[in-house]
Amino acid sequence: MIDTLGFIGTGIMGAPMVWRLLGAGLKVIVYNRTTAKSQALVSGGAMIAISAQELARQCDTIILMLSNDDAVREVVSDFKSDLKPGSTIIDCSTLSPSASVAMADMLAEVNVRYIDAPVTGSRPQAEVGELAFLIGASESSVQRFVPLFQAMGKRMFFLGDVGRGTTAKAINNMVVAVNLAVFAEALSLASACGLREEDFLDIVRQSGAHSAMIEHKGPRIVSRNFEPHFALKLMHKDAALVQKLASEHRQWTPLLDAVEQVYRKAAAEVDGGRQDVGSVYLMYLQGQGR
Ligand SMILES: NC(=O)c1ccc[n+]([C@@H]2O[C@H](COP(=O)([O-])OP(=O)(O)OC[C@H]3O[C@@H](n4cnc5c(N)ncnc54)[C@H](OP(=O)(O)O)[C@@H]3O)[C@@H](O)[C@H]2O)c1
Repeated sequence: MIDTLGFIGTGIMGAPMVWRLLGAGLKVIVYNRTTAKSQALVSGGAMIAISAQELARQCDTIILMLSNDDAVREVVSDFKSDLKPGSTIIDCSTLSPSASVAMADMLAEVNVRYIDAPVTGSRPQAEVGELAFLIGASESSVQRFVPLFQAMGKRMFFLGDVGRGTTAKAINNMVVAVNLAVFAEALSLASACGLREEDFLDIVRQSGAHSAMIEHKGPRIVSRNFEPHFALKLMHKDAALVQKLASEHRQWTPLLDAVEQVYRKAAAEVDGGRQDVGSVYLMYLQGQGR
């Protein structure tokens, strides 16, 4: 059983994940750098810690849901000396595999276990508990945490060693990144050729070109709804980290290289990448003076 569960990072994904844990009857202590983003969780029974260090002193299991390598490094360095020996950190953030292995090594020094468990699915799936967890551990070694994963998700993939979860996540996001970018590029061309965006989206949906990504993002792009479910700058972060992974493994990845440039340019040109990843489409429109 988990005695006291901590959760750090109540952003777009973290907040609905905490709601699911509270709904499953767990006692959760939360901390978020921007305090306002965790206040609403108090009405669901969450307790708020005033710092990551305070949370670390009280919890024997801590879930992280933070932006990137730097955010996790910063939080872990800040609270490392406050963690209870024997406690466990479950990191659901999308990190580079090398950073997750470095975290595991660093935390082992203070007798704290680190598990990488990034997720697939976005805010809608987090809200209804339908995330999938890509877990860098064997099933038998994480049995006591399974109820947590089940509260927040519907699938668990047990991938063995630390770093395998983040590896699988990064490579899966490569498919997602290319898929969405080619749809935006094709939609822009279709529109430039005089086709109605709605019609082209419908045609894609009826064809072999369709995907879950297009199902979710296509209508939002066509209606210009870019309220962030997954920020464009995070997609660029993911493209860059899988590019680094590919380079470490000396892989030829021409599509990935092209798509990393697409998201890099879009994150720089479209509202600093703060809007939803679907706003990559605005860059195509701007490029054509539309
Ligand atoms: N959104 C999705 O669809 C989705 C899907 C799968 C995986 N992911 C991954 O899940 C993670 C979270 O994504 P999200 O969409 O929830 O992002 P988000 O809304 O931007 O949340 C990021 C969280 O990280 C915190 N943070 C960032 N830098 C920090 C720092 N230096 N110190 C302390 N806290 C820091 C933020 O705190 P503040 O509130 O103070 O900024 C916030 O709580 C990312 O790794 C993302 O790639 C996202």
